Amino acid sequence: MYPQERMRRLRTTPRMRRMFREGSLRPEQLVQPLFVDENIKEKREVATLPGQYALPLCDVGEECSRLDRLGIGAVLLFGIPRRKDPLGSEAWNSEGIVQRAVREAKSASDIPVFTDLCLCEYTDHGHCGQLRDDQVDNDPTLELYGRIAVSQARAGADMVAPSGMMDGQVAAIRSALDREGFQGTGIMAYSAKFASCFYGPFRDMVGSCPSHGDRRSHQMDPANARQARRELRLDAQEGADALMIKPALPYLDVIARARMEHDLPICAYQVSGEYAMLRCAGAQGALDMKAAMMESLQCIQRAGADLIITYFAAEAAAYLRGGLDG
Ligand code: PBG
Repeated sequence: MYPQERMRRLRTTPRMRRMFREGSLRPEQLVQPLFVDENIKEKREVATLPGQYALPLCDVGEECSRLDRLGIGAVLLFGIPRRKDPLGSEAWNSEGIVQRAVREAKSASDIPVFTDLCLCEYTDHGHCGQLRDDQVDNDPTLELYGRIAVSQARAGADMVAPSGMMDGQVAAIRSALDREGFQGTGIMAYSAKFASCFYGPFRDMVGSCPSHGDRRSHQMDPANARQARRELRLDAQEGADALMIKPALPYLDVIARARMEHDLPICAYQVSGEYAMLRCAGAQGALDMKAAMMESLQCIQRAGADLIITYFAAEAAAYLRGGLDG
C-alpha cells in the first residue's frame, strides 16, 4: 500500500517503461486481408474502407511480396468473382479468382496464404450457402464447403478460414481435405463470429450484402458470451488448428475467455467497421490515427490474441519495424 508501493517507479523513463511492458506486438502476428476482384484491371478503393483496395489479379504478386518484406505473418485472401449463381459455384472452380490469386501469391513470395472460405461473395443472393425457403440449408452447404476447401488447398493455400458459421463446418472441411490428401492444410476457424453491424464496409467492398434477410440464423447474437464458449469448444473438438473471434475490440471478453480455456492459437479479427471508425476519426482530427491503431492492436493482444487479422497490418508492421513502438 502507499506510501511503500509506488507504481510510478516502473514508469519513470522510456527505457524503464519499455522494459516493463508486458506484451509486445510483432509484425508476424498480423494478418492482412486482401481483396482480389476478377472484374477490374486497376486497383479500386471503396469509400467506406479508406486506404484499402480491391486488387486485380495482376497486382497480387507484387502486393504479397511487399507485405512479405514488411514481415507480416500472412495474407487472408477474399475473391470477388465475375460470375455469381445460386450455389456460388465459382468458389470451387480451379480457375476461379481466389484459386488463381493463391497461385500468384505463392509464386511471388514466401508469405503464408490463408483463404476465406464462404459462399456469400459467390452466390447471386449474397447468402453464405445453399438456400431452402430463404434460409441457408446447413447440411448441403457443408458439402459445398468441402469442395471449396479442397480447391483452395490444391491451389496452395496454407490454411483455409471457414467463415460461414454452419454447424459442423470444421469437421466437414477437415474430412474433405484429408480425403483428398491435404492433411497438411490447416483450418483457421471463424468460431465465435457475431452477427455484427461492423461488417458493413466489407460488404460494400465485396458486394456480399444479402438481397433479402440477414445472417442472424447462423452468426451469433452479440449478447451471447456463453454460446461463444460452446462454439469455440465445438470447433476445437472438430479439429480446428486455430480459433478465431470476430469482431475484436467490442468482444475482448470473449477473446480473454478463449485464451483461458484453450491451448489452440487464438486469433482475433479487427473487422472493416472497426478499421473504418478509427480511420474516419483520424481523418476528422478527432483521434491520432497512428496512436489509436497501435493502442487498439495492443489491447487485442493483451486480451489474449496470438494473431490479429487487421486492415492495419501493413501500416502497423511498417511502424513497428521503424522502432517507433515507444
Ligand atoms: C464472410 C465474411 C465476412 C467478413 C469476413 N468474412 C462478412 C460477413 O459475414 O458478412 C467480414 C470482415 C470484415 O468486416 O472485415 N465471407
